[in-house]
Amino acid sequence: MAALSRLLSPLLLALVAVGASPAIIPRAPVSVSLLKELNVTTGPQMVTSGRQRAQALKTKAFRAPGTKVAANATEPVINEAVIYIAEVGVGSPPTTYNLIVDTGSSNTWVGAVTPYEQTSTSESTGDIVEVTYGSGFFIGLEYIDTVTLSDDLVIRSSPSGQLSYRINGFSPYDGILGIGPTYLTTGTLLTSSEEIPTVTDNLYTEGVISDWSLGISFAPTTEEEVQNGVLTFGGVDESLYSGELNIFPKTTTEPATYYWGYDQSVLYGDTEILALTAGITDTGTTLLYLATDAYDAYVDATGATLDSTTGLLSISAEQFLSLKSLFFDINGVTYELIPDAQLWPTALNEAIGGTADSLYLVVSDMGSSSGEGLDFINGYVFLERFYSVYDSANAQLGFASTEYTNATVNYQ
Ligand SMILES: *[C@@H]1O[C@H](CO)[C@@H](O)[C@H](O)[C@H]1NC(C)=O
Ligand SMILES: *[C@@H]1O[C@H](CO)[C@@H](O)[C@H](O)[C@H]1NC(C)=O
Ligand SMILES: *[C@@H]1O[C@H](CO)[C@@H](O)[C@H](O)[C@H]1NC(C)=O
Repeated sequence: MAALSRLLSPLLLALVAVGASPAIIPRAPVSVSLLKELNVTTGPQMVTSGRQRAQALKTKAFRAPGTKVAANATEPVINEAVIYIAEVGVGSPPTTYNLIVDTGSSNTWVGAVTPYEQTSTSESTGDIVEVTYGSGFFIGLEYIDTVTLSDDLVIRSSPSGQLSYRINGFSPYDGILGIGPTYLTTGTLLTSSEEIPTVTDNLYTEGVISDWSLGISFAPTTEEEVQNGVLTFGGVDESLYSGELNIFPKTTTEPATYYWGYDQSVLYGDTEILALTAGITDTGTTLLYLATDAYDAYVDATGATLDSTTGLLSISAEQFLSLKSLFFDINGVTYELIPDAQLWPTALNEAIGGTADSLYLVVSDMGSSSGEGLDFINGYVFLERFYSVYDSANAQLGFASTEYTNATVNYQ
C-alpha cells in the first residue's frame, strides 16, 4: 500500500458527488448551461478518432465487470472536435472545474489541470478508481465530496472522487462529468465490483431532483466557442423543444444497451440503408457514424467521394442540390436530417484543413459491419438538431424537434 500511495500522491483527482444535505430542494428540473468548444484539428484525425471511440465503446462494454482494460494512455482520451463543457464546483468553498459532458461514460472526476482542492467536505473512501476511455485512462483516489452544478443543484454523499496519477489528453479540461448509465461505472473501483452512483443518481437519491432523468439541448453553430448547450437535471426544459417529445425504450441489445442505446433504422430518401438495429446516441462523438454497409449505401446513393485531406465525404454543389434527407425511424416516429444537417459547416472548412468552397458531409464509416450490436452513433450532428432526454428511472430515451431541426446554417 505504501508503494501505491506514493504512486498516487503526486496527482489529480476526480470525483462524484452526492449527498446527504437535502437543504436545497428545488423539485422542478434545474438547468446548467454548457459552453461549446470546437477544437478541430486539420486532417482526417477528427474522423479517425471518432471511429476509434466507436470501436472502443463496442469492446469496452463487453468486458466482464471488474476486469480492467489494458490501456497505454499514449493518445488523447478526448480528441473529438466538438466538446461541451460544464463548470462544476467541488468542495466547500468550491473549486471550479471545467468538465467535459459525456453520455458515453459515467464516472465524474476532476483534477487533470486544476488540482483537486481538498476542503472540510472532502472524504476519502480509501478506494482507487480506474476508468478507461477510447484510447487512454486515468487512475485516482476515490473521494466523496460536495458537488455544485449550479446554485440550485448541490449534492453531497456517496462515492466517487479520484486522485489520478496518470492522465493523458485531457488538457485544457479538468475532467469528465459522466452522465451515461450507472452500469458503466461497474468495475472501475479497485476493491469492489459494485456500481458507483453517478452525479444524476445522487441528485435523485438525495431528493434534489424528483425525476431520475436529464435533458440535453445543443444547437448548431459556426463559431468556435459559444455558450449554447443546456443540460437539465430532473426532467426536461420544455422551452427548448417544439412539438411532441417522443419517448422510446432503451435497446436490450448488447453492447448498445450499456450506453444510451436504442433501436433505429435509417433511410436515405426512401431507400433503407440500415435495417432496424441497435446503436447509441453520444455527446462525445462529433459526427454521425454508420456501420460500413450502411455507410457504403449512403456513399453510393449520394455519389459522394472520400476527401483524403479532411477524412470526410465530399460532394459537388450540384450533388448537394439533389441530396435527400436522412430519415431515422425510431419506435414508429421518424426524425429527419435535412441536407443542410448532413453538411459540415462550410464556415469551418478551413479549420479542418479543407478548402473554403468545398462541401463536406458529416456521415462517416464506423469501420465495422452492421449486426454487431452497436451499428450507429448519432453524435453531436444529430443532437444539435433534436432535443434529447435520458430517463434512467424507466430505461427510456426521448427526442423532440427544436427550432434548429430544419435550420439551414451549415451552407453559407
Ligand atoms: C485543442 O486540442 C489540442 C490537442 O488536440 C490541445 O492541445 C489544445 O489545448 C486544445 N485547445 C482547446 C482550446 O481546447
Ligand atoms: C500497449 O502496449 C503494448 C506494448 O507496446 C501492446 O502490445 C498493447 O497492444 C498495447 N495496448 C493497447 C490497449 O494499446
Ligand atoms: C422539418 O421539415 C420537414 C419537411 O422536410 C417537415 O415535415 C417537418 O415538420 C419540419 N420539422 C420542423 C420541426 O419544423
